[in-house]
Amino acid sequence: MILGLPKETRANEARVALTPDAVKKLLKKGFQLWIERSSGLPAGFPDSEYLLDGVQLTDAAQAFSADIVVKVHRPTPEEVSGMKKGSLLISFLSPEIADGLFEKLALGGIDALAMEKIPRTSRAQSMDALSSQANIAGYRAVIEAAAQYGRFFPLMMTSAGSAKPVKLMVLGAGVAGLQAIATAKRLGAVVEAYDIRSDVKEQIQSLGAKFVELDVGEEGSGSGGYAQELSEDAKKKQQQLLTERLKKCDVIISTANIPGRKAPVLILEEAVKGMRPGSLIVDMAAGNGGNCPLSEADQVVNRYGVKIIGFTNYPSLMPADASGFYGQNLIHLLNLLVLNEEGLQLHLNLEDDIIASALMTHRGNVRF
Ligand SMILES: NC(=O)c1ccc[n+]([C@@H]2O[C@H](COP(=O)([O-])OP(=O)(O)OC[C@H]3O[C@@H](n4cnc5c(N)ncnc54)[C@H](O)[C@@H]3O)[C@@H](O)[C@H]2O)c1
Repeated sequence: MILGLPKETRANEARVALTPDAVKKLLKKGFQLWIERSSGLPAGFPDSEYLLDGVQLTDAAQAFSADIVVKVHRPTPEEVSGMKKGSLLISFLSPEIADGLFEKLALGGIDALAMEKIPRTSRAQSMDALSSQANIAGYRAVIEAAAQYGRFFPLMMTSAGSAKPVKLMVLGAGVAGLQAIATAKRLGAVVEAYDIRSDVKEQIQSLGAKFVELDVGEEGSGSGGYAQELSEDAKKKQQQLLTERLKKCDVIISTANIPGRKAPVLILEEAVKGMRPGSLIVDMAAGNGGNCPLSEADQVVNRYGVKIIGFTNYPSLMPADASGFYGQNLIHLLNLLVLNEEGLQLHLNLEDDIIASALMTHRGNVRF
């Protein structure tokens, strides 16, 4: 069975779906690989590291014509045209984008698994690429904040004077938020965190941060470890209660998100206005509308003297580890999809909840 690894073509994407280490593991399982030349170069893996027994370095067209094609980002329509009938595509696919991609995949007889649709369950944990990448993003967002903030994060006492530790607030304590808390603590920040799901209180406290409790009159826990959307009244109350609190923060890392929805607005213009000039906000939801209406996707803007960072692809800024984790997620998923019975056989068991929820096209049909 041949696995194709094409180079990522999206602007500013440095990740690759499989690192040389992941390729070694797949070769051991019996796969052959067609890898597009220079695929791993942006992540720091030259072709020479991929050139192993069972690997052929190819052009893009050949990599797309394999039995299984693995990618980080959804392919373009032209790339799909080069895939063969009966093949399988595994990638982040952004099912919310209605641009005809899934109809094209179905028409071409290509089955497609969306990595972002892997459920957040214990059994699926090792395949959960949204979490593996959000973890990296939470870390990198804090590093970015520390680099762009004009002051120390930790308490500093020197012969030339002392500096107070930064007061840092994390909004949303999911995967990215918890990693942001842990990273900020390691850098010596005084950290508090807020989430609409009160069940994360213990996790926040176990990382040494203070849990901020706000009574908005509703509990925000939804199903599957995600939040549910608040009523309009509760949203207003939350914004009011947060605004006064946020004005006192030096750095805010905001990660609040509800899957499939526009990001909730938590940092009003009034809060930004009230922050000390020189303060900083990292809006990790900037690619999804933003937790702050003043943030701009992929820009650093200055509003009322406050720097607002809206980068949308932190994992790509740490491409070697992000690719390593992603490749591991793929290997675990492939273990579930490919059986080794007298050679490798693809078996998409629709009774399996992981496959059932991630499979977007199957045997000519769009499944969502
Ligand atoms: N910029 C990047 O490079 C990058 C990378 C990965 C993730 N992200 C973004 O970071 C965000 C977090 O990702 P994640 O995987 O940690 O998501 P997650 O679902 O694990 O966490 C989101 C958290 O936000 C909380 N939340 C939702 N609504 C809230 C509200 N009104 N008030 C307070 N908390 C609220 C949820 O309870 C949850 O704990 C998402 O917006 C995601 O798209 C950005």
